Amino acid sequence: MEPERVTSASAPGKVILFGEHAVVYGEPSLSLALDRRIHVQARRAQTTSVNGEPLDPQRHAYIDRAIDLASDHGAVALTTRSELPSSGGVGSSAALSVAVVAAVGSLSGRVVGPEGIARRAFEAEYATQGSASPNDTSVAAAGGAVLLAPALRADQEFLWRIGKGERAWAVHRVHLPELPLVVVNTGSRSRTTEQVARVRRFIERNAFGRDVIAEIGRVTMEGVEALKDGDLRRTGSLMTRNHELLHMLGVDSPQLSRLCDLARRVPGTYGAKLTGAGGGGSLIVLTEDRDAVLAAVAKEGVTSFAAKASRTGVEVTG
Ligand code: MEV
Repeated sequence: MEPERVTSASAPGKVILFGEHAVVYGEPSLSLALDRRIHVQARRAQTTSVNGEPLDPQRHAYIDRAIDLASDHGAVALTTRSELPSSGGVGSSAALSVAVVAAVGSLSGRVVGPEGIARRAFEAEYATQGSASPNDTSVAAAGGAVLLAPALRADQEFLWRIGKGERAWAVHRVHLPELPLVVVNTGSRSRTTEQVARVRRFIERNAFGRDVIAEIGRVTMEGVEALKDGDLRRTGSLMTRNHELLHMLGVDSPQLSRLCDLARRVPGTYGAKLTGAGGGGSLIVLTEDRDAVLAAVAKEGVTSFAAKASRTGVEVTG
């Protein structure tokens, strides 16, 4: 008898340094994969299950769609393990979609390479959220620092292009030095679908909202330049500016804003902003004194960690 085949895959979470929400409308974004991952194992089964329970299309919406897009429609038993907070603004749903597509695709012999995985995982995110950019899924697939731009940029390393409807995003790898970042998780869960819908309603009704989106795009490209020059002071003040613009879009929260202010007051801090969809979730702090920021926010009863970037994107074994 053939031994039962088990495939395993993992994918990293991410922080968005610049450009969340605006990237949905074709503006650029810059993100960094984290060294915290989601791990998925897949094997053939009689019925599809997740961690021993029957798959529930509502509760396991991302997984359900990711399986559909990667499998040959045979049932699979999945086991998942996460090092990321869920709904925490650090890309857990994208890492999960990417790792499921990779593990199930490998089991079915269907999906090859980070680009194919990124495409299918983006479709799974888009279908689940009703709207999305390929930012989070591309970062989870590619690893490292990733720039999405509306068109190919000759000054960056091109990875792939992903389109949806009338929009297309060119995905690039950017080479950044290690950045002294702290991630602070508010513990308040943030649902990307709701925050993306909130921004859509706002910009559909307000020309001002569309100006804010365009301004986030400019700040993002200035941020890319500042990072290329190794200018952390400028990078930090652009991050703070990006946060103010996200506040105008309505995706800040009193807790996020208070924690950003607190972190900015710590000597050695260059800037702070919410990261991801907002409304809760996480913020990132660029600072020379990570220990002091970690100590300052610990008093607020939130969890935080010194962010380490990962060059490794999706990994598949078996
Ligand atoms: C969420 O991590 C990032 C958003 O820009 C949504 C997306 O790009 O799909 C808010």
